[in-house]
Amino acid sequence: MYRVIQWATGGVGKAAIQGVLRHPELELVGCWVHSADKHGKDVGELIGEEPLGVAATTDIDELLALDADCVMYSPMLPDDQVVAKILRSGKNVVTPVGWVYPDRENSAVQALEEACVAGNATLHGSGIHPGGITERFPLMISGLTAAITHVRAEEFSDIRTYNSPLVVREVMGFGLTPEQAMSGPMATLLEAGFKQSVRMVADELGFRSEPRIRSTQEVAVAVTGTDELVVPMEAGTVAARRFKWQAIVDDKPVVTAAVNWLMCDVELDPPWTIGEKGERFEVEVTGDPDVLLTFKGLQPETVAEGLERNPGVVVTANHCISAIPLVCEAGPGIKTYLDLPMITGRAAPDLAR
Ligand SMILES: NC(=O)c1ccc[n+]([C@@H]2O[C@H](COP(=O)([O-])OP(=O)(O)OC[C@H]3O[C@@H](n4cnc5c(N)ncnc54)[C@H](OP(=O)(O)O)[C@@H]3O)[C@@H](O)[C@H]2O)c1
Repeated sequence: MYRVIQWATGGVGKAAIQGVLRHPELELVGCWVHSADKHGKDVGELIGEEPLGVAATTDIDELLALDADCVMYSPMLPDDQVVAKILRSGKNVVTPVGWVYPDRENSAVQALEEACVAGNATLHGSGIHPGGITERFPLMISGLTAAITHVRAEEFSDIRTYNSPLVVREVMGFGLTPEQAMSGPMATLLEAGFKQSVRMVADELGFRSEPRIRSTQEVAVAVTGTDELVVPMEAGTVAARRFKWQAIVDDKPVVTAAVNWLMCDVELDPPWTIGEKGERFEVEVTGDPDVLLTFKGLQPETVAEGLERNPGVVVTANHCISAIPLVCEAGPGIKTYLDLPMITGRAAPDLAR
């Protein structure tokens, strides 16, 4: 059994705890919480289930002193110093907050590599988008085709299910003017991760792409105002956003990662829609032959269901949890999908051998 500590109990953290509990090779031994009012609470209680006999704590040193193999690190704001401390204490780290394909020339990345070596530990960045749809799955299906000219990974999501007014308005920029939204933090927050994914695909497929990954962003505004959504929206304020990151060869894109976020059912200017296929993720490899893969099920069926438990959040957690046994067996250092064996899920407990 691999002994796991969960770091933070937000949406991803709660799903990760459930993932650990259902995984036959994993055992939950500790849990860090950011919120002081969660300190000392049983982790089972924090996820709305039976007590587990594991108390949550805000005390980092107490957790680092535990005998544990791996930390699932999913706080809202990542802290390199904390990650380095965890690695130095000899614990592996899986996380959806970065390091999917980090730049090894960057001094902050080098410091984490050193922490890995000092603690004989591994750091693995994962997730869904980025951390799955944008690089692992395109690379996987790229093996089916030849003479590749373009790879596209694209999200189409309805933001009505994002139940955090603060994040939706202040971070994602919905309900703000186009100027406020475009100059807000979202593009910068997203691009660190997505640029790594685009770079990973371009490098691995051998494109002679420019070193710079091109970023673009566009917005669509609400034609009429509404108070019915997660944030109030006046006419002319942002109700949809589109971001794109592209690797370029000879002025043409060869790898594209894109995000389309729409407040569906709001009339938009320009008149974007999510399309007849609805919410989805698409991966398309243009080559001989062209291959198109559409992922359904990673977004909720209804707005109400999404507000309760969002499958995208659960998938993000599962992708990290599924990697834990492989990460625990890997050598020290930052290990990407290119370094690890195939990451798989496990049978439901009542069907397992
Ligand atoms: N790569 C991907 O595909 C992907 C997908 C989804 C999310 N993510 C990332 O995963 C992380 C967690 O997402 P989430 O949906 O679980 O977020 P969330 O629901 O907002 O919760 C994050 C948790 O972070 C803790 N927290 C609050 N303020 C904090 C602070 N100032 N510093 C450190 N921790 C703080 C809290 O933990 P306690 O409740 O324990 O006190 C909170 O519940 C985010 O960084 C998000 O960007 C990545």
